[in-house]
Amino acid sequence: MIGATPSDIAIVAVGAAIPERVLTNDEISQMVETDDAWIVERTGIRERRIAADHESVTSLAITAARQALDRSDIAPAEIDLVITSTASPERSFPSISALVADDVGAHSAGALDVLVACAGFAYALAHGIAQIQAGFATTVMVIGSEVLSRITDWEDRGTCILFGDGAGAVILRKGAAPSVEPIAVELGVDGSKGFDLYGDLTPRDGQPLDKCIRMNGNAVYRFATQVIVDSAKRVLDAGGYTQDDIDLLVPHQANLRIIESGVQRLGFPMERTVITLDRYGNTSSASIPLCLDHAWRTGRLQPGQRLLMMGLGGGLAWGTCLIRWMGDPA
Ligand code: COA
Repeated sequence: MIGATPSDIAIVAVGAAIPERVLTNDEISQMVETDDAWIVERTGIRERRIAADHESVTSLAITAARQALDRSDIAPAEIDLVITSTASPERSFPSISALVADDVGAHSAGALDVLVACAGFAYALAHGIAQIQAGFATTVMVIGSEVLSRITDWEDRGTCILFGDGAGAVILRKGAAPSVEPIAVELGVDGSKGFDLYGDLTPRDGQPLDKCIRMNGNAVYRFATQVIVDSAKRVLDAGGYTQDDIDLLVPHQANLRIIESGVQRLGFPMERTVITLDRYGNTSSASIPLCLDHAWRTGRLQPGQRLLMMGLGGGLAWGTCLIRWMGDPA
């Protein structure tokens, strides 16, 4: 699905939860046969964060949500809906969002989680926008939270070099932008390639549960380099925008080579692209909000800027959203 809708909805705040423990490429090279130079050259990743035993996908989501609220003038009771995307849930229910809503005091909110892996944050954002556009909500908290280290096979060098833990949260608000202009969204999926990247939650085919992420790296690479360009172009067209109208490109942090090739083919400057994978790795649905948090903290986000956010991954799914940032400067 793809479309654009004139709107004054904008993102008004961002928060993050970044675990303290740093896992470097050199440390991984003591666990599997690899080395820092190979990982940096093929992925751009230098280190990633790993959640401590006392941290969980829910506690990281709560930390990020609290920080987003602290950085806004919005009271928790004003939140109408909490949507959390994750590929590493700890249980089927209650949802992470339900526990976040309770913790932050969003007692008037509905709450749900979405499972769309690395495209999940864009899907969650699109659903938040849709609920506001429909008139059912004014303020929506959208979170991406992951503890991928707990579903990583630390003996598989094709995947364990990639992933990291963390969470990010944003607040969407109706009426935040000073004028009305198109918000544009595309959500897509190719389920025929679903098992090129997957993780099981319950036993399948009579086999014991394999709790790890499994991936055909080359197939995912080909999918990602194509869809990142095609989807961005379609979303720009849908909104009536060109590359020049975009202030900041915020791609899912899968692999620097995927991002660089996409950005180059779009004719977009790397200077206007946010990169955090060198220090956080691929944090699945947390990667886009963690990029926004990084951009905010480093003064790159200014009120009124247009952001083009591109999520892609397991499904194989993709989600691209074009929306304005209207938060306070850092
Ligand atoms: N260290 C050293 N060698 C490794 C390695 C590692 N960590 N992982 C794989 N290799 C080896 C392979 O075994 C292979 O060796 P061989 O030729 O002797 O068989 C060789 O390197 C090339 O493997 P290949 O899979 O073709 O490498 P690649 O250049 O495609 O890089 C990925 C592998 C995983 C980095 C790359 O495919 C990729 O990034 N894919 C997309 C993954 C992704 O982003 N997934 C999440 C999407 S949300």
